[in-house]
Amino acid sequence: MMQRVSTLIAGLIVLMLATACSSDTVVLSPDGSIAVTFKLIDDQPFYRVSKSGEVIVQDSPLGFEFKNQPALTSDLQLINLETSSFDETWSQPWGEVKNIRNHYNAITVTLREKTGLERVLEITFRAYDDGVGFRYEFPEQPNLKDFIITNELTAFNMSRDMDAWWIPAYGDEIDSEFLFTKNRISEIGQKVHTPLTMESGDSLFVTIHEAALVDYAGMALDPKGQNLTCDLVPWANGDKVIGKAPTVTPWRTIQVAENAGDLITSYLILNLNEPNKLADLSYLRPGKYNGIWWGMHLDRYTWNQGPKHGAASPVVRKYIDFAGANNLSGVLVEGWNKGWEYDWSEGRFNFLEPYDDFDIANLSQYASQNGVGLIGHHETGGNIENYENQLPEAFQFYQRYGIHSVKTGYVTRRPAGEYHQGQFMVRHYQRVVEMAAAHQIALDIHEPVKATGLRRTYPNLMTREGARGTEYEAWSKGNPPEHTVILPFTRCLAGPLDYTPGIFDILIKDKPENRVHTTLAKQLALYVTIYSPLQMAADLPENYAGQPAFQFIRDVPTDWEETHVLNAKIGDHLTIVRKDRKSDDWYLGSTTNEQPRELTIDLNFLLPNRRYQAQIYADGEQADMENNPTDVLITSANVSSDQTMQLKLAPGGGQAIRFHLLE
Ligand code: NOJ
Ligand code: CA
Repeated sequence: MMQRVSTLIAGLIVLMLATACSSDTVVLSPDGSIAVTFKLIDDQPFYRVSKSGEVIVQDSPLGFEFKNQPALTSDLQLINLETSSFDETWSQPWGEVKNIRNHYNAITVTLREKTGLERVLEITFRAYDDGVGFRYEFPEQPNLKDFIITNELTAFNMSRDMDAWWIPAYGDEIDSEFLFTKNRISEIGQKVHTPLTMESGDSLFVTIHEAALVDYAGMALDPKGQNLTCDLVPWANGDKVIGKAPTVTPWRTIQVAENAGDLITSYLILNLNEPNKLADLSYLRPGKYNGIWWGMHLDRYTWNQGPKHGAASPVVRKYIDFAGANNLSGVLVEGWNKGWEYDWSEGRFNFLEPYDDFDIANLSQYASQNGVGLIGHHETGGNIENYENQLPEAFQFYQRYGIHSVKTGYVTRRPAGEYHQGQFMVRHYQRVVEMAAAHQIALDIHEPVKATGLRRTYPNLMTREGARGTEYEAWSKGNPPEHTVILPFTRCLAGPLDYTPGIFDILIKDKPENRVHTTLAKQLALYVTIYSPLQMAADLPENYAGQPAFQFIRDVPTDWEETHVLNAKIGDHLTIVRKDRKSDDWYLGSTTNEQPRELTIDLNFLLPNRRYQAQIYADGEQADMENNPTDVLITSANVSSDQTMQLKLAPGGGQAIRFHLLE
């Protein structure tokens, strides 16, 4: 399976073109479609990206500004150029696809200042068939040791004023929990979060993001006309990055596709991360969970101890019973520990002391007798000092009870002016991931730093929220139907999203002012269209009672061998099929925005010459999100790979199908 291409032939993929004031070095992707050009113009470094001859990112600057030392971006000469090629197929221990090909051509340029401090900067560009990654390296050197970056000069000067789907970057509210706005890059007018996905003329799709964000600041984008400039999320004092040579920056990534679905099946972000560093993966279990959670958001239960305490042992037992009987492998318990009686923003949580009515020893044993694992919960309230003071004991505590996954939360913005995406928090999240791994604990991080593919290196970093999830349906004007057909092309390109789907009580009887903005069939489809290795069956167990449609949630896997996008239009609709890792069954999820839709799909992803039973969960004839959201039509039909199927989606609707191989 493993194959490496010798660097000897790499010279073939690099072209060098010289003109009077600049010399171009071009590296082509393996199929030749993507070209990255590096050049010095008047001794300043620039890069450019093209696809099939069309310039996508025009000449854009590279370099840094520092505190207390001159900028490193001018007076540079090229002193070395290295080329390489790489081709390897690697396997994910869990994931949306099993095998991933990492195939690229690369150049590394070494630049040195001609005069003065003669500092050295290296930049590596990798050209993939699905885009580009590049990063800076500060090698060990006499005149650049400790440094503080005040500005990274990287820019993405887009050649077209594309449509962009964006959410605001760091600001006053919790990072990432926003609805998306769509407009031209030149009309955005504020700093935006990444991944930033852009579209032009139905045939060009570009996503800018980053990979392997470790000990650095997260990158926001600050649009200046069509030019998206890197805006590093600052420390509280305004510094951007505290660094020390030798070190590397995260990869800046530009994914380029001819159709929106190809962005979803691009694994460039993962490929740019280091391979798995964890020796022990035995405790990692992709699966589904329910939890003491939605009931709190409905005000039916409380987090803190009292007459309506959600985490009280009898309630938890009920959830364990339900999970055990319904093919769910985990039960999340929020509000189990002392500290919820204070204002959350104070973050006075104690991760070692359960409330008296939560008998963790007894419940963890009861869970394991039922084939279920408890999922722990660490809400920090953003009080990092308080949390870190209780680590690693807080993980040891759970490990003692055989608990192997923990949901963490950072709900109250940031400690003392630090942002979720700044270097202070990047360092914190990294410490927690590594410490969790040392205690055989997988993480589901709410209010996280954005995903940048680190799950490849640390597979215990299984999933995260980092989006405006289902909870907003319980206590805000909610998430309009287009939200869930934008997320797969934006936020989800960064990595798994714990969107917490599966609400069956669409109109939320506990809260007449609030409702879920989908049909019931669309809730099922989200298990396929929004990938997460841990998927919640988020509703109250009683809301699933007597519901035949719940069978789909019982059946649907969360670990996949293959993923294909059958149709896709950002903000409009999306149909994905995924193959189960443990069987020959395929699962389909199709979702639409507020528009009804009829889609024809080709079943040629199924094994040829075999019969499958399609178990279909469709919007009923009368279904529509506004007036009749729970009308689901469950039917079955025998099908084979040479057939097509018609999907009929109601306004705000969806469809889910299990294709079960008949022996
Ligand atoms: C916000 C999280 O998104 C939510 O899932 C959680 O229940 C609360 N914080 C409390 O931790
Ligand atoms: Ca949240």
